[in-house]
Amino acid sequence: MSEVEKVIELAKRRGLFWPSYEIYGGVGGLYDIGPIGVRIKNKIVNLWRKYFVEDNKEFVVEVETPIITPYKVLEASGHVDNFTDPIVECTKCHRIYRADHLVEDVLKVNVERLSISELNQLIKEKNIKCPSCGGDLGDVRAFNLLFSTNIGPYSGSTGFLRPETAQGMFTSFRKVYEVSRERLPLGIAQVGRVARNEISPRQGLIRMREFTIMEVEFFFDPEDDEVPLYKFEEDEINIWRAEDKAKGEEKVIRFKVKELVSEKVVVNPWMAYWMATANRFVKALGISNTFFEEKLPQERAHYSRQTFDQIAVVKGERVEISGHAYRGDYDLSRHAKFSGQDLSVFKKYPEPRAVKRKAVIINKDKLNNESKEFVKEFMTKVANKSPEEIEQMLATGFTIDGKKVSDYVVVTEREEKETGKRFIPHVVEPSFGVERCLFLSVLNAYSEKKDRIVLSLPREVAPYEVAVFPLLERENLVRKAKEIYLKVREKFDAVYDDSGSIGRRYARVDEIGVPYAVTVDPQTLEDGTVTIRDRDTWKQVRVKEEKLTTALGKLFSGEPIEKVGEGS
Ligand code: ATP
Ligand code: GLY
Repeated sequence: MSEVEKVIELAKRRGLFWPSYEIYGGVGGLYDIGPIGVRIKNKIVNLWRKYFVEDNKEFVVEVETPIITPYKVLEASGHVDNFTDPIVECTKCHRIYRADHLVEDVLKVNVERLSISELNQLIKEKNIKCPSCGGDLGDVRAFNLLFSTNIGPYSGSTGFLRPETAQGMFTSFRKVYEVSRERLPLGIAQVGRVARNEISPRQGLIRMREFTIMEVEFFFDPEDDEVPLYKFEEDEINIWRAEDKAKGEEKVIRFKVKELVSEKVVVNPWMAYWMATANRFVKALGISNTFFEEKLPQERAHYSRQTFDQIAVVKGERVEISGHAYRGDYDLSRHAKFSGQDLSVFKKYPEPRAVKRKAVIINKDKLNNESKEFVKEFMTKVANKSPEEIEQMLATGFTIDGKKVSDYVVVTEREEKETGKRFIPHVVEPSFGVERCLFLSVLNAYSEKKDRIVLSLPREVAPYEVAVFPLLERENLVRKAKEIYLKVREKFDAVYDDSGSIGRRYARVDEIGVPYAVTVDPQTLEDGTVTIRDRDTWKQVRVKEEKLTTALGKLFSGEPIEKVGEGS
């Protein structure tokens, strides 16, 4: 069994996750998250909230918007036309494959986002056949990944399940901006369910058809370069740049966060800010081997001007854990156009600025004396041009009907006071799938020790922080253990368990990743000490009951277990 398979097996057995609707045979890409899985998942979401929302409270707010999305919104966003993957069907056995993945598997080359016709050509040229029956493949076509539905009882009102939460932030941007005191930068965060009709869902939680996403749409003025990168003074980030990738070189370079800006690795400093935040968040999940892979232009989504995938390398698997896209003003401009609403913002300057503006002055009196035909030609050829274009015409001595245009129009320069500017904010988007984070955290934390399984999850994402047990199911021990449990619970996320042998209980907490177990045994009743056991080393120390929470606090702040024991 591969380690991925072992994790899937463990997840089923311990209640982290399992295929949904199993009593009916299951449905590919749909998973139930079980009792332990939900605890871990909630902790991951809370950790993400800490890094992305709470630590940035001065400019990030959180919203919730619907899953059901009207046709028009996803038409405006470009998803109706572009949210597709290429598929190809076997003409003999009628199995359907994701065409790019099939070509990649057979030819061992990266063909991400090749066009349909390029894929077709490759399949014909290289004579690629159906891997399952050897039959001929048909033509490659685009398959749209949106799940569609009908809104209300009448037909014709098509809606979709959202494939990302982002559109909810774009369509509510104006409202959120207004209630957030009309200031930029403004990050709008959301955690919510999304659905994508993936062609070939993978085992485990890597590629699901319905999952939870954690996104920030971060709106800012592209001319404002005050980005608080000092927060990440010492942080380093690994990058695989598109320019190296294009040359076929797998060259991952380590940059200081501010170098991402000075070396022009990112198109905007806010990209560096959120990539650095993502880097810290993924480290907090316990995953330290990561890099950002810059996407080539043809690999990017339709709305993106620059994209980095954050790749987590876990047990030899390379998996995208988050996406970082520079969406520019694409989304707001499209929604402004499709909705007919003004989605620009007005930014007041601290002081009004004097600006020189060119103005066109037409000599109307003179023009009125000319023929209708002349006026008409003047209006179409000259009057509707920009001041700069008219200046050019004048410089070349442009004439109508043999008459010099410069007799009818002049371009002057005027000084005006500007109190601010109107523009469409730009957007940077960091986007994480929660279940992918969950799966990768668990895979990363998985190890085997003397044929037992240990899940070394960081405290922040462990389903519980402390387990409390009586050594035996004896009444006086149970009573004492429950009393201690209630005390521990005031300070820590604790769980109580008294069923089965102590060995099994230790195995269970190791397997679900509880960092410490506290055991009450007969000696507790004599001298008031309990044992604390460390999940990863299995070392045990005794501590006085009244010092237990202090000792746990010390352990969680990194003190070695030997140091917190009685008499040390
Ligand atoms: P992929 O290339 O793997 O299909 P994507 O580039 O389409 O993913 P994004 O749209 O950038 O993915 O999604 C943001 C994040 O959501 C990903 O980094 C990943 O963590 C998660 N994610 C995307 N698709 C799925 C899925 N089908 N199942 C689970 N998580 C997903
Ligand atoms: N201290 C109790 C046990 O390890 O079993």
